[in-house]
Amino acid sequence: MQTPLTDLLGCRYPIIQTAMGWVADPVLVSATCNAGGFGFLAGAVMTPAEVEKGIVAIKALTDQPFGVNFHMYAPGAAEIIDICIKHRVKAVSYSRSPASAMITKLKAAGIVCIPTVGALKHAVKAVEMGADAVVVQGSEGGGHTGAVASTILLPQVVAAVNVPVVAAGGYKDGQGLVAALAFGAAGIAMGTRFLMTKESPVPQVTKASYTRVQAEQVIVSTRLDGIPQRMINNDCLRNLQNISALGMLWLAIKNGLAFSRITGASVPAMLLAGWQMKQANGLSFGQTLMAANAPMMIQAAMVDGHPNAGILPSGQVAGAIDDLPAVAELIEQIERQARDTLDALGRL
Ligand SMILES: Cc1cc2nc3c(=O)[nH]c(=O)nc-3n(C[C@H](O)[C@H](O)[C@H](O)COP(=O)(O)O)c2cc1C
Repeated sequence: MQTPLTDLLGCRYPIIQTAMGWVADPVLVSATCNAGGFGFLAGAVMTPAEVEKGIVAIKALTDQPFGVNFHMYAPGAAEIIDICIKHRVKAVSYSRSPASAMITKLKAAGIVCIPTVGALKHAVKAVEMGADAVVVQGSEGGGHTGAVASTILLPQVVAAVNVPVVAAGGYKDGQGLVAALAFGAAGIAMGTRFLMTKESPVPQVTKASYTRVQAEQVIVSTRLDGIPQRMINNDCLRNLQNISALGMLWLAIKNGLAFSRITGASVPAMLLAGWQMKQANGLSFGQTLMAANAPMMIQAAMVDGHPNAGILPSGQVAGAIDDLPAVAELIEQIERQARDTLDALGRL
């Protein structure tokens, strides 16, 4: 299945496994790449040293190309870029607050730059800043997400930019891949579908929350970090919606300090990153405080295995998935479904 995306990334199928904090680890990334897709390591919640360790671990598990995701506004970003260049990582992905100088440096080193965007104007801006391709996430998608559905946003972006466009938000199968190609995309990118696989490191009890959920229970809220984010509406999110300003402040201090310990970022560096995020996203002070809570609350569910005590970022597509296949099985199935769908359409 050759498309401009497979040409750009050197993978066999136009299928990207997106980065997901604490989910897209070396095992998931290498399983994706060995099966012919293209995986991104979730570097946005790692220290630079952990990113380097992750890259080395992936290289021990696959000889296929792969990518790294990180935030360009994060304290360790410059170091992560040097690590990606040193290890000849094929591609990087990033989203909010891209930095021109960093993109220029990555491109000069031959690294493919693929940001994720959730709005038409952000896609145009990203390409102006040098993106080699863009992942366009419709509002169905998991984690931080925009307001416009894939069926509307994707063709608009395809018409507006001159680089390969990858469709994200709501994809899980070969029919979806063919639909995305029909809209002019060069492939699909999936988060939730890869979270719901055998190789995903998410604890079984947390995976069970995803297989049980109905699509309408996967809602968008700004309550976690001030930016619209799609999550499963569980006890933890309901509590967050009702918490007082003082309660939020206490949570933010506690969780911010804990996150500073796990990322190795100093408190001043975290405050600076918070300030830059506030400026870039137009957040209020209260919203910036809320952002300090997000990592620890997600970790409680995704790492510690307490699905109701933590936050479960998810695409609506979780409501349409009830299995946990091995990654190779999943990618083979998508390929087969796509071919069958194309054949059936050809007979019309
Ligand atoms: C659990 C979870 C964690 C995520 N973490 C990140 C992240 O760390 N960085 C990022 O750029 N996107 C993150 N996302 C967004 C995904 O990379 C991807 O864009 C999205 O899941 C696509 O929509 P889908 O879930 O419908 O496939 C996350 C999504 C989920 C579900």
